[in-house]
This record gives sequence, C-alpha cells and structure tokens, in this order.
Amino acid sequence: MEWKFLPEDKSGPARKSRDYRLFNERVIKSAQLLEKSLSEYIVREDEDLNTNKLLKETREIIALSDDPVHTFRMLRRVRRYDDLTYIHSLNVAILCHEFANWMHMPEEEQDILTLAGLLHDVGKMGIPGKIIKKAGLLTDEEYELIKQHPQKGYDFLKKHPLDERIMNAALMHHERCDGSGYPQGLKADEIDDFAKIVAIADYYDALTSARVYREPHCPFEVFRMLQQERDKFDSTYLAVFMEGVASFYIGCEVVLSNQKRARMVDTNPTDQSNPIVKMDGLIVNLAMAPDVDVKEIC
Ligand SMILES: [Fe+2]
Repeated sequence: MEWKFLPEDKSGPARKSRDYRLFNERVIKSAQLLEKSLSEYIVREDEDLNTNKLLKETREIIALSDDPVHTFRMLRRVRRYDDLTYIHSLNVAILCHEFANWMHMPEEEQDILTLAGLLHDVGKMGIPGKIIKKAGLLTDEEYELIKQHPQKGYDFLKKHPLDERIMNAALMHHERCDGSGYPQGLKADEIDDFAKIVAIADYYDALTSARVYREPHCPFEVFRMLQQERDKFDSTYLAVFMEGVASFYIGCEVVLSNQKRARMVDTNPTDQSNPIVKMDGLIVNLAMAPDVDVKEIC
C-alpha cells in the first residue's frame, strides 16, 4: 500500500518534528487499520466490525497531543497520496469526539457519535476508485454515482448490529435542513441529530483540507461560508461547533486581510468568523472592522 507524506513543517520547534514523526506513524497505522477493517467487514458479511478497536485507535490519536490545534495541524499534513477518504474519516471522527465534549454528552453517546464520524463515508468503498480519486471536475454521470455513497454506506452498515444513529449518519450526512441535500431531500425534522452533527464536521473538514485543485481554506473563512449557508445546518449544533473549533485557536498568531499580524485573544460568540484579536497593541473585535478578515492562522 502506497502512502505519501507532505513535507515536514520546518518552522516549528525541533520537538514538533519528533512529535510529527511519531504522529505520522500512528495515524498511518490507524488509517490502515480503518481501511483493512472496513474492507474485511464489507466483504465478509458474517463478521462484525470491531468498533471497540476503532474507537481505541481514535482515542489514542487524540491522546497523542494535549493540544487539539496541534493534533489537527499534524493530521492535515498526513495524506495518502491517492486517497483522502480514511484521513478525512479520522478527522471527522475526532471533530465529532470533541463536539460530544462541548455538548457534555455521556460517554456512551460520545463513542456512538465518534463512530458515526469514522464510518460516515463507508459507502465510498462501493464507488469506483477512479471516480473517488479523480482530481478534476466530475461529469454529471460520475456525480450521480458519488451521490449513491450515503445509501450504499447505510446498506453496508445495516447488515450488522450497530446503533441506528451510526447507520443514519452514513445515510443522511449529505441531507440539508432546508431540503436541498441528497439522497432523499429530507428536511430538518426528518434528519437524525447525529447526521446533522456529522454533516457540519464533514463540511468543515473538507473545506479546511487541501485538494489537488485548491489550497485549504482558513477555518475562519469556512465559518463565514457556514454562516452564509446557515439554513442548511442545524443552528444550535452549528453555533456549538464553530465556538468549539474557534476556541482551539485562542492564543494563535493570525494574518489579517490587511496583511497585519495579530494574536487571537478570544472567540466572538455572536460571530465566530470574526474573533477578538490584539493588533498593534489594541484589542479589536473584527466584527466591528468589516474590511478586515482573518486570512491565515500561523
Ligand atoms: Fe460523504
């Protein structure tokens, strides 16, 4: 199996390089385990998916660092060259795990939500690899095939004794509260709560990750996109998610659209895309500076 790493970030302290190597080894091992488990699980219908083993792997990745920002930065630099599905699934699982903490969910629900994130795209294993890995624009026919992955995922998972919310997250994570999603065009009250949470984590991770055809978007830019598309997402979950993720970045240096550097000092609970920063010795609420946005987190 061919795996490829992005170059190490040379700007960080040496300690981070050692962390990065250990992290790489661990994430690759987990992604391979996920891929192997799912392949065997789908081919051999008589065997149950070892969810405890998958959960343990995810928890151990989170425990590798006590700083979630560090975890996410390192995770984003580990990429299998021709297939992003497994790393994306791990990212979504970790975001779901954190989300359950922010919502003070009991441990059992946290595990179910983490597994829902880990398994949400399992249906992509039923779509031809050359379409999943295609770097350019998809044809209409190819897009129609991709749109079958939620139903395929549900069909894979329902053969086994898993919590219904895990199966529903696979089936409904591309549904949108305003009815504009697929495969069924469900409306808010018809969509499983866990699928609504996975949908937000899935959208966020896809846009903050690099693609062959574009650079990754800055998290605060993705918050703006999420705010613009707020009718598509559950408003309570969206607010909790953005506040939680934004809080990862308190204390980080940021580059603003006016090319100045600033330090994020707090989130802005009424507008998470515009945090409170310290710039030129002054505390500035970026919501009050409409021409200035966060462009990059250093
Ligand atoms: Fe998906």
